[in-house]
Amino acid sequence: MPNPAKPEKTGWRKYLMLPRLIRLSRSAPKDRPLAWDRYWAGITATGPGGEVLWDAGSDHEFLGYRDLILRHLDPALPVVDVGCGHGSFTRALAAHFPQAIGVDISAHAAALAAAEPGNPGNVSFEVRDMTAPGAGAGLVAGPANVFVRGVLHVLSPADQAALAENLRVLAGGRGTVFLAETNFQGNPVEYVTHLGATQRSIPAPLERAIRGLPMPGHFGPKERSRALPPASWELLEEGAAAIETNPVTGVEGQSRVPGYVAALRPRRPSGETPKHAGEDAPLTGSS
Ligand SMILES: C[S@@+](CC[C@H](N)C(=O)[O-])C[C@H]1O[C@@H](n2cnc3c(N)ncnc32)[C@H](O)[C@@H]1O
Repeated sequence: MPNPAKPEKTGWRKYLMLPRLIRLSRSAPKDRPLAWDRYWAGITATGPGGEVLWDAGSDHEFLGYRDLILRHLDPALPVVDVGCGHGSFTRALAAHFPQAIGVDISAHAAALAAAEPGNPGNVSFEVRDMTAPGAGAGLVAGPANVFVRGVLHVLSPADQAALAENLRVLAGGRGTVFLAETNFQGNPVEYVTHLGATQRSIPAPLERAIRGLPMPGHFGPKERSRALPPASWELLEEGAAAIETNPVTGVEGQSRVPGYVAALRPRRPSGETPKHAGEDAPLTGSS
């Protein structure tokens, strides 16, 4: 006979791992740029069976975005992969755009991305804090498409707004921004449980992230309209998606996190006219 008390007990049990989570996360540097660079400095294996939590080791997730990307992003423009990590999405994007530039705050991430096998000739990587004032300028000549996966949800609201301003400059008058972000609704214990942590064990890629990185937030329609407000950004399309993570536990649901995707284009500030007929002048000033 089913015991109605059991699910409740199992539900509460996961909170017994809280002291361990607190102990592990205490070692993560409070300085975010430092945390990211140390994290990437320690990565020795990517792809299937690798050490990176958000690396599913396949192009399955990207293929799920491809139609939406091709619907809204101008295929004649370069694409900038903001917060590219080890560059797996930069490499996938390179098949669809004349040039793909991966940019990351971590020098170790950019070096790892550049050293990965299979980088086509139209791919390059750069180190830049994309929340820094002016970071959107000078990366590419003219407007670019922008791809962002799993970056906004790890930033504070102030840094999200700073990043958005740089995305606006990068996109200029013709580029489109594509976002794919984790939008898990739940507390940190529920999040790590979803990713396969139990009282007895924590999957290695997850433990590495907990030890080294600040606890992520979530990013969905509400956060998007705050960071990229409708007055400054035209929302072309949005929807739900599954963000695919390292399939280390072998349990399918544990390597798919509820996510959010959107395609947006910066609105031209009123009174600003395009410099060229093709509207390819970069946007200037504040939105
Ligand atoms: C969760 S990872 C996602 C990596 C990659 N987009 C992917 O999906 O495989 C977040 C990435 O954002 C980078 N990052 C964090 N803050 C950043 C910033 N201010 N400017 C540029 N990159 C940043 C980190 O170094 C890390 O590589």
